[in-house]
Amino acid sequence: MSAGEFSLRQFARADQHGLVELWTACGLLRPWNNPLEDIHLCVTTPSSELVVADSAGRLIGSAMLGHDGHRGWVYYLAVHPNWQRNGIGRSLMSYAERWMDERQVPKIQAMIRADNLPVRGFYRRLGYQDNDVQVVEKFLNQRSKPNA
Ligand SMILES: CC(C)(COP(=O)(O)OP(=O)(O)OC[C@H]1O[C@@H](n2cnc3c(N)ncnc32)[C@H](O)[C@@H]1OP(=O)(O)O)[C@@H](O)C(=O)NCCC(=O)NCCS
Repeated sequence: MSAGEFSLRQFARADQHGLVELWTACGLLRPWNNPLEDIHLCVTTPSSELVVADSAGRLIGSAMLGHDGHRGWVYYLAVHPNWQRNGIGRSLMSYAERWMDERQVPKIQAMIRADNLPVRGFYRRLGYQDNDVQVVEKFLNQRSKPNA
């Protein structure tokens, strides 16, 4: 399906339901991540931003941006399966790169799940390189990953 005209804009509260649907359709949700909490934390954190792609009032893409004073990160990069391969993901990442650059963030990074093989080609196409860093994590609340 062609995206036709689309525009990028800031997330608005009314987008919440559509955004969770988008992330579900894109396979980005995990039981140990509460998307509503993630949205809330992002939109209430000054060094973060939630940008969405909108086509005729329909929410078809997203990217969650943030920086920690050292590096910039992109999370929840998503384009609805029906609208993929129309340049929307590239446009979201160009926006993210400008956003980081305006804040003098020297490097932009994304975490790719080990089983998400298709997205590697996308990032490579945009000039991103693999790095050799092992990510470690620790949950600081009651929730934990199943079988962890
Ligand atoms: C990754 C994703 C956001 C890409 O969005 P998209 O709108 O389809 O990407 P674009 O159309 O802007 O593609 C940009 C370029 O990458 C290429 N590309 C896109 N997906 C690709 C893939 N899976 N493999 C190889 N190249 C790919 C396109 O052909 C295009 O190249 P070109 O501009 O030189 O012609 C989308 O596939 C998605 O939402 N995937 C599911 C969620 C996900 O995995 N998110 C990332 C989590 S880390």
